[in-house]
Amino acid sequence: MQKIVVDLGERSYPIFVGSGLLDKSHLIPMNISEGRVVIVTNTVVSPLYLEKVKSFFVDRSCSQVVLPDGESFKTLETVNVIYKFLLQGKYDRKTTLVALGGGVVGDITGFVAATYLRGIDFVQVPTTLLSQVDSSVGGKTGVNHQLGKNMIGAFYQPKCVIADISVLSTLSQRELKAGFAEVLKYGLINDLKFFDWLDSNSRELLGKEPECMAQVVKRSCEIKAEMVAKDEREIGTRALLNFGHTFGHAIESAMGFGNVLHGEAVAMGMVMAADLSLRIGWISQTEAFRVRQVLEKNFQLNIVPPEEVSVKQYLDLMASDKKTENNILRFILLRSIGFGEINSKISSDALRATLSAKNLLCMV
Ligand code: NAD
Ligand code: GLY
Repeated sequence: MQKIVVDLGERSYPIFVGSGLLDKSHLIPMNISEGRVVIVTNTVVSPLYLEKVKSFFVDRSCSQVVLPDGESFKTLETVNVIYKFLLQGKYDRKTTLVALGGGVVGDITGFVAATYLRGIDFVQVPTTLLSQVDSSVGGKTGVNHQLGKNMIGAFYQPKCVIADISVLSTLSQRELKAGFAEVLKYGLINDLKFFDWLDSNSRELLGKEPECMAQVVKRSCEIKAEMVAKDEREIGTRALLNFGHTFGHAIESAMGFGNVLHGEAVAMGMVMAADLSLRIGWISQTEAFRVRQVLEKNFQLNIVPPEEVSVKQYLDLMASDKKTENNILRFILLRSIGFGEINSKISSDALRATLSAKNLLCMV
């Protein structure tokens, strides 16, 4: 078992990464205070892992809220269902919520924890690759609004994160690949060596080879923990973690939440951001081809944005992006592979060229 600490002073917390962690019944109880426990999960994950997690709490009150599955339920209505359960059960401030599921369950549960009785403890037990490498770490919690992705939320850190690689055995290949989009993001913005390693090990990773998976989750969490520790509330460099997300969130919103998976939209968005980087002369054509090769060929990600989304839709949706400052869009681009940088000076011509390109990452 590996332990990575997110260093945030008195709000610091451990991320445990390894195989079979859900067989270690002491791990969650020893990281939370005494009090009642409510596990929040969904209809897909509960038949798989709920009983196991419930068995950790035989000596205290433990109940569960089972949500419907999917991004389309990441809403204030679902938050309200959980508030009602907690209020009707008279759950007090010593209650701990356990988020058992992917990023949707984690984001919703974290937001409820941030706001119920002005804040109660919560723990993340991420069960998708995407949630293990990204959403369970760093304290971004929240829900979607009809008018935009993740528009309602709070920064609120969990007490610990338990990333058990074994639970990925039940994850579909489509969800696995979507998770690799966020993994590749870390290599692209922060770590060329990691990107090279991912490139060389894509076959083992798509086959969920346990040692490679543990390595992937550990390295991704290390990178994210370091970036969050430097800039918890995204005043500056944490924004790099949104590489591909400005375009990706627009795709998710335009296509209707849940129709394109978050990781799939991020993969397309990263290719669009890399295309923009190429257009302004930051990355070379050789690097651009490599980005395309690794995402499309090695990790079998669809990198072609949906034709249905018009340039106008992108521009409208991106205008409400959370990174916008004084109506100026800030893009996360690549100076080179392994080095992301924020750019607020993109010309409308370059942006429109990327948004309307038929063949991204190819200027020859
Ligand atoms: P998800 O939560 O919808 O999970 C994907 C699917 O896998 C769901 O159907 C889920 O029920 C199922 N599932 C979960 N664990 C499983 C398992 N072990 N075996 C079989 N099926 C399993 O999606 P996701 O990709 O985990 O997360 C995407 C969400 O995370 C988006 O809403 C995105 O905005 C959010 N996100 C948040 C952050 C953050 O920093 N908070 C970062 C990245 C993404
Ligand atoms: N997923 C982006 C962030 O956590 O900042």
